[in-house]
Amino acid sequence: VRSTHGGNIWSAAERLCVRPGRIVDASASLAPTPWWLPFSLSAASVRDLRAYPDPTYRGFRQALAGLHGLDPDWFLPGNGASELFTWAARDASSLGVSLLPRPGFADYSRALACWAGQASTYGLPDDWTSSGPRPLVLSGLQVESLSDGCLWFTNPHNPTGLLWQRRSLEDLLHQHPLVIADEAFLPLVPGGEAHSLIPLVSDHPNLVVIRSLTKLYGAAGLRLGYAVAHPERLQRWAAWRDPWPVNALASALAERLLGDRRGYEAHCRSVQRWTEREGQWLKSRLMGLDGLRPMPSAANFLLLRADGDRAGSSLQPLRLALERRHHILLRDCSSFEGLGPGWLRLGYQSRRVHRRLLRALRQELPLFDAA
Ligand SMILES: Cc1ncc(COP(=O)(O)O)c(C=O)c1O
Repeated sequence: VRSTHGGNIWSAAERLCVRPGRIVDASASLAPTPWWLPFSLSAASVRDLRAYPDPTYRGFRQALAGLHGLDPDWFLPGNGASELFTWAARDASSLGVSLLPRPGFADYSRALACWAGQASTYGLPDDWTSSGPRPLVLSGLQVESLSDGCLWFTNPHNPTGLLWQRRSLEDLLHQHPLVIADEAFLPLVPGGEAHSLIPLVSDHPNLVVIRSLTKLYGAAGLRLGYAVAHPERLQRWAAWRDPWPVNALASALAERLLGDRRGYEAHCRSVQRWTEREGQWLKSRLMGLDGLRPMPSAANFLLLRADGDRAGSSLQPLRLALERRHHILLRDCSSFEGLGPGWLRLGYQSRRVHRRLLRALRQELPLFDAA
């Protein structure tokens, strides 16, 4: 079975017969989990556990309103960004064909398939010369007449880590009946907020921005995300879904984290410094390895490509050797249309883990060359 998602330490642990805690998961791209996060969670009271969550998530939405400067009605908390894609896809399916990026995040297709939604793909600018923001220009639309379909994009893009300029995205808002902007990784990108579309939501009823707290707080297990869009759209989504998609513990935590604006901003700055520091360090070391090329990325992950004598060959034997002998998971990119087995995605980790990864790569690459 081909993996369409990173971060599955459970099946890797079963394959390797080790405890999940022994695995280094660089196939998912999460910020470091703050040491205090489990303590914040364990502050839950019996009341938090016993009562049903507030179905309107008032406190969570108020915290978001304070953070983004919009009325609480413009926010809908979700069980991770993924849950919200499902509802965005229902709207998109009712409007016609969806345009999805190629290569792109597989969950958009999963969400559209729930509603038998039609999809076509567009190509992305493939200028890899820098990690700076660049215009998003849709290319290679499979059928040109679809240039007015519902547009989905990821900023920064997954899996490439390229950052799209807000100016270019603004233009697209005038051409598509619905635009779904996935900003799951944007708060982790240094200078990323300057390219967010959240400030444009109030003037564009056809715009939906989806954010995830999973990446920012290194808390994928909690499942926390939110949508920012016109209140009428969000009320419709809320009526479709089950009454309490976000559990009370996660919701109370989000309220505390986001309700403290200064704390939130300080956390984002510290994560962005980590992205910059670890990205630069790792790229400079990876460039010194024969047979691999790290691609420019603005995000907290990067793509590795088979290079030099190995150009065009598969990196899967290397990925499997890292998994089997070092218990390090990298993201297999075979399932990404337009990439294939000669590419791997690597989510940044701590410096200690980066050193371990580099040691493992130095050990495995020569064997892999000889294979
Ligand atoms: C681009 C992108 N958007 C959204 C998500 C899902 O985020 P969440 O964990 O909040 O559902 C992911 C997870 O891998 C992702 O890569």
